[in-house]
Amino acid sequence: MKAVFFEKHGGPDVLKYGTFRDPSLEANDVLIDIKACALNHLDIWVRQGLPGVSIPLPHIPGSDVAGIVLDTGKAVRRLKKGDRVVVAPGQIPGHLKEALESQDSFSPEFQILGLQTQGGYAEKISVNDRFVIPVSEKYSFEEWASVPLASLTAYHMLVSRAGLKPGETVLIHAAGSGVGSAAIQIAKFLGARVLTTVGDYKKVARAKKLGADEVILYKAKDFSEEAKRLTDGKGVEVVFDHIGPETWQKNLSSLTRGGRLVTCGATSGPKVEIEVRYLYSKQISILGSYMGSFAELLQVLRWVEKGILSPTLDQVFPLKEAAEAHLRMENRQNFGKIVLKT
Ligand SMILES: NC(=O)c1ccc[n+]([C@@H]2O[C@H](COP(=O)([O-])OP(=O)(O)OC[C@H]3O[C@@H](n4cnc5c(N)ncnc54)[C@H](OP(=O)(O)O)[C@@H]3O)[C@@H](O)[C@H]2O)c1
Repeated sequence: MKAVFFEKHGGPDVLKYGTFRDPSLEANDVLIDIKACALNHLDIWVRQGLPGVSIPLPHIPGSDVAGIVLDTGKAVRRLKKGDRVVVAPGQIPGHLKEALESQDSFSPEFQILGLQTQGGYAEKISVNDRFVIPVSEKYSFEEWASVPLASLTAYHMLVSRAGLKPGETVLIHAAGSGVGSAAIQIAKFLGARVLTTVGDYKKVARAKKLGADEVILYKAKDFSEEAKRLTDGKGVEVVFDHIGPETWQKNLSSLTRGGRLVTCGATSGPKVEIEVRYLYSKQISILGSYMGSFAELLQVLRWVEKGILSPTLDQVFPLKEAAEAHLRMENRQNFGKIVLKT
């Protein structure tokens, strides 16, 4: 099959389009004809190489797969040839019932498609049927591929970790990011007031269209001062962060007393400083968040089917132009999800 893979870590130029061995089909596997695979910022980290994470090479990145079932292993009953499906990006061994009841992403066995396993920048993929979820014709494959990883992460952060409540104000960083564009919609559905940031005025209109109440151009204005001004000096109840050191101190000063800072990312670097006296005197909670469970993903997909949450598609590239797609993401040009189409 054709795939995009890398044989060494590095810049976008290490991504090669070429022939890769076909995936095998075990008894419990589903072979999928991949129609679309969305990019996540994770794909850039995987391509560059992550400290302490060894990735067997050559490696196919890509965590967000949508496609059609081509074939099923002899033990598979739940799915059949021709089904439209997406693949759960977070996977743990075990049975479906256990996964539904557990909090998968807290498990030490939790794996991410395209990080610990070969991913979706390819024509085909073979996945254990537990991780394959049928979807309707409501959206195109490109739109369905835009949903799983980022929307699941935003859901887990706001619903399960921060416990965002109606009437609270949340500051969501980077409206145009995959996670931010999903978070705005989820926070509005939960009844919160949404302040969001963008790095470019061209992203303001789309942020408002997603439902943001206030959009802060953080290069022109201090987002923390704006968060205070827009809450009459009180500060926000929740900050949704994935930027890291560049936003850290101002995140803390944007929070009201008893506020929660929930974070899933470190785009601007891995280390931050904390003024402990400030933390305890304002009774702030800092919450780490890592993707989410299979059960949460099913809930997210139900919300998408019902129209509560919509895919935010940026641009579609042919699979062989994966390097250009990576450049668009690295240059922070995307609003929503960049998708590769086979
Ligand atoms: N832990 C988890 O489970 C999990 C899951 C998903 C994502 N993440 C992490 O969350 C982060 C966002 O992921 P994503 O896929 O949503 O990213 P994305 O679509 O590439 O969006 C990133 C956006 O962040 C903004 N940004 C602000 N400061 C930045 C900086 N110093 N460098 C680069 N971008 C900066 C940019 O928008 P503006 O220019 O408009 O500010 C940029 O477009 C990544 O670090 C990712 O690894 C973690």
